[in-house]
Amino acid sequence: DLPADLSGRRVLITAGGTREAVDPVRFIGNRSSGRQGYAFAATALARGARVDLISANVALPDPPGAEITRVESAREMREAALAHSTAADVVIMTAAVADFRPAESAPGKIKKTGEGPAPIELVENPDILAELASRRDDPGRLVVGFAAETDNVLEYGRAKLERKGCDLLVVNQVGDGRAFGTEDNQAVVLGADGSATEIPHGPKEELADRVWDLVAPRLGPAHTR
Ligand code: C5P
Repeated sequence: DLPADLSGRRVLITAGGTREAVDPVRFIGNRSSGRQGYAFAATALARGARVDLISANVALPDPPGAEITRVESAREMREAALAHSTAADVVIMTAAVADFRPAESAPGKIKKTGEGPAPIELVENPDILAELASRRDDPGRLVVGFAAETDNVLEYGRAKLERKGCDLLVVNQVGDGRAFGTEDNQAVVLGADGSATEIPHGPKEELADRVWDLVAPRLGPAHTR
């Protein structure tokens, strides 16, 4: 039986990996299938939520019933996330956002000159999660971030939770071929309240449902937006 504990709630989910243009045909990006974000969307819909899904470069079928905004770059994702965040009761930031982008994107395809490659100057992208977590126009809005760590999972996770200012941080244990592009996932969810909840190895839908189990009781009273 599915709990309808997200009924009347509106959730905003970022998914996939951003691409930062080097020129019209090349990009710098992060490897992300979007599966975990899409699993959050499908499970939220099943639990009664309205879902705004901001999707960056994902080759998966649309979760039926989600409102999808397709973006390519981190800056496009930021615009879309800010625009949708005011209506959201909870924000789930699964996207792999490129930390850096080329300072400028060449208008035409960069050619080989025979003199070796030109350096690409990089500039920092906005941190969408940190920005949404710091802009609490609605203090009842819950912000959930993600982190992938190979070691010192709890220590690094705690530090990141505080740095980003989010309410929950889902720390994936990666390495040994785990997590990226696979069906399964394993995590510990750290709370700003000091809590730590282990989620055992399992399908990404299962992980999403366990996170919703933690999110639902933390939401304030439902109000009409
Ligand atoms: O700092 P790091 O990339 O490890 O943080 C991961 C978390 O922050 C994820 O939830 C990701 O979606 C979010 N993030 C973001 N904007 C960035 C970098 C990360 O929203 N520029």
